[in-house]
Amino acid sequence: MKKRTYTDHSIASSDITPEQVFLNRRALIKASAGTMAGALVVPSIAAAQASAQSALSFSPDADRSLVDEQTPYDAVTTYNNFYEFGTDKSDPARHAHNMTTDPWTVKVGGLVNQPGSLHLEDVLSKFDLEERIYRFRCVEAWSMVVPWVGFPLSQLLKRFEPKAEGKFVEFKTLYRRGQMRGTRSFTSIIDWPYREGLRMDEALHPLTLVAVGLYGKTLPNQNGAPLRLVIPWKYGFKSIKSIVEINVTAKQPKTSWQMLQPSEYGFYANVNPEVDHPRWSQRFERKLPSSIFKPNRVPTLPFNGYEEQVAGLYQGMDLRKFY
Ligand code: MTE
Repeated sequence: MKKRTYTDHSIASSDITPEQVFLNRRALIKASAGTMAGALVVPSIAAAQASAQSALSFSPDADRSLVDEQTPYDAVTTYNNFYEFGTDKSDPARHAHNMTTDPWTVKVGGLVNQPGSLHLEDVLSKFDLEERIYRFRCVEAWSMVVPWVGFPLSQLLKRFEPKAEGKFVEFKTLYRRGQMRGTRSFTSIIDWPYREGLRMDEALHPLTLVAVGLYGKTLPNQNGAPLRLVIPWKYGFKSIKSIVEINVTAKQPKTSWQMLQPSEYGFYANVNPEVDHPRWSQRFERKLPSSIFKPNRVPTLPFNGYEEQVAGLYQGMDLRKFY
């Protein structure tokens, strides 16, 4: 099988202003096509159609490049995990519109020299937005390829000047019971707010993105509006949505899924086909849209295909132990 890695590609910051995030997708894709650094190719409509055809005859051993086409917008925005709105994959698209996202403030504190807050308007005006086409792999073995719009998390963190003793970064999602029916449900299993964490070097890695849009549009609520993380080499649950708080810490922070079931969900959560989830294999993934008739089943790659860029972060670590 041909080996393939997936690097980010970006458009020059001068090519896109915050307002342009709201522009149509075609203009954005046209802009990015001219500045790609030989990474994932933005497909033309004809290519996308050809790929849809070839996906019909796809087998797990076939060349993965066939499935590197972008996932249709409808699939990305209607099949979600956002437990604040329910546990069914259709719940976020049905109920997330109840969450108001304007005004929105992110509080940044902990071990930083300049604690403070960012309002959404600051986020859109102070950071250089770019488009990144990333593969995204959920721990439940579905995957997609999404053109996100955002900026590296490192840009945000540096503004608040993390102290040398800050070794980790903790993130929290909005917790607003009145607007989030999943948090009021009897079947709710998470200790709200939803929490995630990264080691500082992971947080500062250039691939770690704060996304504010997808497909050239602002993020739909169900995908984590108005801003969320996207960490493409880790299972999807690390990519926390609708962030309201960021703290730099000395100790490894607690994360929602680890608190819930530590034997199944580790802190690192790097995509690793060699380490099975205790209840299912991680060797394959179903690329959305996936169905019984067209499962789109393909092999999963170490670090979700970003091995070249990130394996160095984990040198000397036993990734079976630190899963
Ligand atoms: N963030 C919050 N706040 N709540 C959640 O339930 N689910 C996670 C992650 N971020 C989740 C979250 C999981 S399990 C996945 S797979 C991704 O969001 C899904 O992101 P998507 O809806 O953009 O596909």
